[in-house]
Amino acid sequence: MPLHAEGTGTLGEYAAEHGAVAHSRSKSRDDPLSVLDEEDRIFANEDLLRIDHVPDQNKIVGRNNQIETVARRLKPTITGGTGKGTLLLGKSGSGKTLVTRYVSREVVGRGLENDVRIGRAVIDCAQRRSEVQTVIHLAKSLNEPEKTGITIPHSGIATGAYYDRLWSVIDELYDAIIVVLDEIDRLAPPDDVENVPPEEADDSKLLMQLSRAGEENDVDASITVIGISNDLKYGDRLDTRVESSFSPDEIVFPAYDANQLGDILERRRDAYRENVLTDDVIPLCSAFSAQEHGDARRAIDLFRLAGEVARDNDAAQVTESHVRVANDDAEVTRIQDLIRGCPTQAKIAIAALATMDEFSERSAFKATEMYRVYRAFAEAIDANVLGKKRITDQLREYETLKIINMTRTSDGYREGTYLQLSLLDDSSLLLQTIGLDERCANIPIDGRMRQHIVSIVGS
Ligand SMILES: Nc1ncnc2c1ncn2[C@@H]1O[C@H](COP(=O)(O)OP(=O)(O)OP(=O)(O)O)[C@@H](O)[C@H]1O
Ligand SMILES: [Mg+2]
Repeated sequence: MPLHAEGTGTLGEYAAEHGAVAHSRSKSRDDPLSVLDEEDRIFANEDLLRIDHVPDQNKIVGRNNQIETVARRLKPTITGGTGKGTLLLGKSGSGKTLVTRYVSREVVGRGLENDVRIGRAVIDCAQRRSEVQTVIHLAKSLNEPEKTGITIPHSGIATGAYYDRLWSVIDELYDAIIVVLDEIDRLAPPDDVENVPPEEADDSKLLMQLSRAGEENDVDASITVIGISNDLKYGDRLDTRVESSFSPDEIVFPAYDANQLGDILERRRDAYRENVLTDDVIPLCSAFSAQEHGDARRAIDLFRLAGEVARDNDAAQVTESHVRVANDDAEVTRIQDLIRGCPTQAKIAIAALATMDEFSERSAFKATEMYRVYRAFAEAIDANVLGKKRITDQLREYETLKIINMTRTSDGYREGTYLQLSLLDDSSLLLQTIGLDERCANIPIDGRMRQHIVSIVGS
């Protein structure tokens, strides 16, 4: 798509002309507080569409195998024994957290029937990000201070002392413990993985302590660990010593297809009032999310957002067009949130790639081409010019965030292999968002710059 605005001289002007600022959906009311009295004509129970809502088993779609396997591995805890270590692997929104919460909740209930006290702690490691933080959280969530008399301070004692308190809490209160470490890979950020020996990474240290608590610290209660990760190769990363004591089985959660996503939404239809959903809504939400690697979280979010768009428009029904608006909004918000948080250097590099995409017929570019445009931009706004390797490293992060695609490619002869970059998101939207940045707003995209870019990438 060519950059239309002929007169546009800078990225800031481009942003102002195209106005990507997320638009407010609601109409203005004479009395803004009247919303408090209005009856909701769209939703009957919006809570069913909350992400942490755990539906009944008959509402969980296509995960019988995974439920059964997790149940088998946790079963020994029902009689106070030790379950088997397990890693649940799969992309985001594939039901890992749901299955774990569901099965472990049932297991705790069965334990109670047998007079076995099973403690369950579900820790979101993405929020903690260090071994000690995780141990503190674990101890706090299992502790009942009025029964144990043990306090867990926020800080101020050594990691070893936190472990000791954790073991005491466990032995005082429970016969068996199920520890769920959700997003466990986030305990060891990629920088660490490269620079720290595996046994010193926070995730390994924690797993080691938990899996050897019985042997080394005389903890009587059994401890069973379930790790969850989006990284399908997470298991390979574990230190061999951890591997041998934790010895997890891996359970893979495949992506959902559009039919399964449709089923998942169908089973939450009760969130809406009767006759509010038109026939296209569920199939369209499922189709959009099936394109996003079959992400059930995205499908449910979209399903809810479409209803909110309809409600904000005072519509009596949710229609296909509400889904489309919701889908665009969700994408714009995602990109704006991501871009706003980027360092200036990364913004300049992404702007380079996005203008190349806009100015030419091509959509994939060599890293060297991107770097030349980046350099021209950085010089034009008097920013530091970083080396090519630093810039490509910075961009790598946006690969994980699905803004950019990076692949090693070969053109068969002459140049050997090279790094190829392309955008996964709408280039115009990226430029509009980057144009809102105070410094990047000055990036020139006038006729001269355009010629320069064409001379690098061809037209
Ligand atoms: N099979 C399913 N049936 C019904 N609802 C599902 C199913 N799978 C996922 N969901 C719903 O989709 C949402 C996302 O699922 P969940 O949180 O379990 O994904 P996840 O695999 O843990 O993703 P992430 O790796 O991003 O944490 C939740 O609201 C969950 O209830
Ligand atoms: Mg999860």
